[in-house]
Amino acid sequence: MKKYLTLLLLAINFNTFAQNEASLTLTPSANVTISKHIYGQFAEHLGRGIYDGFWVDKSLPVAKQDRIRLDVVDALKKIKIPNLRWPGGCFADEYHWRDGIGPRTQRPRMVNTNWGGITEDNSFGTHEFLALCDLLGCEPYIAGNVGSGTVEEMSKWVEYLNSNSSSSVVQMRKQNGHPAPYQVTFWGVGNESWGCGGNMTPEYYTDQFKRYASFAKDYPGTPLKKVASGANAEDYNWTEVCMKKIPLQMMWGLSLHYYTIPTGNWGKKGSATAFTEEEYFNTMVSCLKMEELVTKHSGMMDKYDPKKKVALVVDEWGVWTDPEPGTNPGFLYQQNSLRDALIAASTLNIFNNHSDRVKMAGLAQTVNVLQALILTDKEKMVLTPTYHIFDMYKVHQDAKYLEMKLKTPDYEVGGKSIPAVNASASVDASGKVHISLVNLDINKAVTVSTILKDVKWNVVRGQILTSASITDINTFQHPDKLHLSSFTNAKKEGDKLVAVIPPKSVVTLALN
Ligand code: AHR
Repeated sequence: MKKYLTLLLLAINFNTFAQNEASLTLTPSANVTISKHIYGQFAEHLGRGIYDGFWVDKSLPVAKQDRIRLDVVDALKKIKIPNLRWPGGCFADEYHWRDGIGPRTQRPRMVNTNWGGITEDNSFGTHEFLALCDLLGCEPYIAGNVGSGTVEEMSKWVEYLNSNSSSSVVQMRKQNGHPAPYQVTFWGVGNESWGCGGNMTPEYYTDQFKRYASFAKDYPGTPLKKVASGANAEDYNWTEVCMKKIPLQMMWGLSLHYYTIPTGNWGKKGSATAFTEEEYFNTMVSCLKMEELVTKHSGMMDKYDPKKKVALVVDEWGVWTDPEPGTNPGFLYQQNSLRDALIAASTLNIFNNHSDRVKMAGLAQTVNVLQALILTDKEKMVLTPTYHIFDMYKVHQDAKYLEMKLKTPDYEVGGKSIPAVNASASVDASGKVHISLVNLDINKAVTVSTILKDVKWNVVRGQILTSASITDINTFQHPDKLHLSSFTNAKKEGDKLVAVIPPKSVVTLALN
């Protein structure tokens, strides 16, 4: 009996120990680069994203160029956002670009039927968007209107922006103040064509795609990268029909949209700031589903495109909660907690680890909408925990991917479990290795031992984002509650890198 008890205690001890240990093996990979465009952003005419976010009233006492808010621009430049998708979203399929050019006082007004039924004055149009991208130093990604527009309309938009001919539409661009072509390469052909973009079947959409794509021309020096409107979450049939019916050389990418819904219920999604550990756990289950989605959609694409020429473009992702109480529900304004930071880091790890197929993505949405990087209130601005993750992870942009084998303990809540640790790693142009590690367990630290094959290193430095509670947020009163700090709990032990990752935290280590 005594012997049995001793064995049991040993087993329990071993188990407790095992649950706090993870191991990682990293190997240089076969030349896969983590595209910087995975770190892309999305700005729709929705709520206070454009108006009040990027584009403010002349009287607002902040530094501006024209009406573009420069504190927002500077913050986004710091994290090197590579691209910005615009004008939607659902809005893209009711947007007519000619309404947004020329003298602002003469631009027609419209009702934004998707988002709050407010009046859109079109003061922020094509030239304003491209001036914003120029300030940000990022590439524009324009979504054409397939749902309520015409082939001619999208074709002329491309010509207006990219041609240097003497056609009337190009003369119009010149009169509107931009003599040189803008050279916009990324074009979405519709948005969510299975839903708000026209409620189409995949078969009907693929025919539409071919019409629109045929007349969206390449002008000298500007070969277009056309992105087909792809699947909603696990609609693998949509992906299959697009891959089967659209000639591969016609599309640079195929999109995928997936949102993390905390409760899994679109009617009552759950609060952004008040949630239990169980709700947090369920949110992370929903977030980690991205791994399965990307794997299966890529697998479906492999069937028709084994050389992975067509990119999977996850151009809408993020957590979608109930709107903040007291705000217009059509504006999708939500706060952003440490939970959101863990969602962002875990999702970016998934994309990095699938960078052979995922070449572009877009967080929804950059300012004041859904899982935003930045929140504004009149002249005040706050950087969210998600912003700090994009700051921490910018080191992976255009770096060489390191192949990874990870053994992780589970994080268990209410009899269900998920992997406690997720990670990704890369080596940059200067040879510096960066390893990003997420510990989703909110109670236990995890010691991660890493072996780096064929990589020489001596010094380790790190950054961490964490906080006392998973619900902690940055507010306009306390904008710096969550911020990046230096991380010192990593060291070289023989040929191993050993790091103790605190509960509910994200760490990025730099080795050289
Ligand atoms: O990001 C908010 C909305 O979510 C977008 O407009 C639409 O594409 C998606 O359904």
